[in-house]
Order: sequence, then structure tokens, then C-alpha cells
Amino acid sequence: MRENFFGAAGWDNLEFDEWLNDMDQMFAELARIIKKRGSVIMFMSIIKVESIIRLAEKHGFYYKTTGIWHKKNPMPRNMNLHFINSTESWIYFTYKAHTGTFNNDGKAIHDFVETSVTPNGEKGFGKHPTQKPLTLMEHFVKILTNEGDVIFDPFSGSGSTGVAALMHNRKFIGSEIDEQYYQNSKERLESVIRNE
Ligand SMILES: C[S@@+](CC[C@H](N)C(=O)[O-])C[C@H]1O[C@@H](n2cnc3c(N)ncnc32)[C@H](O)[C@@H]1O
Repeated sequence: MRENFFGAAGWDNLEFDEWLNDMDQMFAELARIIKKRGSVIMFMSIIKVESIIRLAEKHGFYYKTTGIWHKKNPMPRNMNLHFINSTESWIYFTYKAHTGTFNNDGKAIHDFVETSVTPNGEKGFGKHPTQKPLTLMEHFVKILTNEGDVIFDPFSGSGSTGVAALMHNRKFIGSEIDEQYYQNSKERLESVIRNE
């Protein structure tokens, strides 16, 4: 990943073994805090999906689905040289159970999710290079959790998961290593709480 532009944001530039070790520790911590039947959604580069599934299973997570998020209007970088990168994969696990909350209202929900990239109107609290659009995070919040549930995002960035959680009456805990992103997301979340 070091060689391509996904590494440019700065937090995805570890050697593979270091990354594997970090992810191993992260799943150990997730297993410590998640409830039985809780759900995990991870956005992940598709080439790492299999490694992540193996690690997660080691820590008691049950693999459910690998899905695709398609961005309808991605940045057309180097469009005359290769295919435009318009997708990200996501992986869904449940903990110590084969099923978890799944609010489908009797409808078939596909593993292909399509949205626009994050609109400028959602970027009022500072720039984040990989800010997820709210519609995407609301999709998972509504299906995989119920009102009053606690949602934790260990890599909360701009706080999109938290905003989606609060908008739908869920509780939110986030952690973010970068001081500036932390401050920006805190202000963003406080504005939702104030109902602005
Ligand atoms: C892919 S971004 C997440 C973007 C987020 N989903 C959003 O919508 O804004 C990953 C974030 O994790 C943060 N991060 C990286 N390592 C971390 C760590 N060890 N603990 C907490 N945050 C970390 C990065 O600073 C970055 O903001």
C-alpha cells in the first residue's frame, strides 16, 4: 500500500507484518469490549480482506459478509492511465454468534452500497482526507444497531460514524489519534447534540 496514493493519507503506510500485528492487537481489544452478538463493520482494502478475516476469527468474530461501497462520483485521478478507483470493500462480522441485529424490515438488502462521495455540506468542521458520507454510515447504523445501542469507532476521523449514530438515537464513543481531527470531530458532534 506504501506505493500507491491510498498510503498518502499517512496512517496506512505500515509494512504488512507490522500492520498485521497492529490489527491483531486491535481485534484483541475489540473482543474485550464488544457485547456478544455485537456487529463490526470494517472498511478495508480488498487485498487485505482475507488476512483480516483470519485474524478476526482467531479472536472470536464470526465472518458474515464482504461487501462493496461504490462511489458514484469519485475523483477521476489518472483517468487516461487506468480504471478509476471508485470502490471500497467493507467486511461485516458478528461477535460470538452467527447473527446479530439486522433491521431489514423484511426487505432484501444487497451487499453493494452506492452513494455519492462526501458532499461539501458535510465538511464544515475541517478537512479529512477519507471522510465517509453520512448516508453510508446511516445505512449501517440503522441496519446493524437499535436505538439506545452504543456504537464505537476506534478510528473515528471526521466523526461521520458518530454523527450517524447520534442522528438515529444511538450512543457514540470514538477514538482518534490525530489532535486536529479529534478537535474537528468533537465540534462536529457537539453541533449535532445542540441540534444545529
Ligand atoms: C480511514 S480514517 C477514518 C475516517 C472516518 N471513517 C471518517 O469518516 O472520517 C482513519 C482514521 O484513524 C486515525 N487513526 C490511525 N491510527 C489510529 C490509532 N492508533 N488510534 C486512533 N485513531 C487512529 C487516523 O488519524 C484517521 O483519522
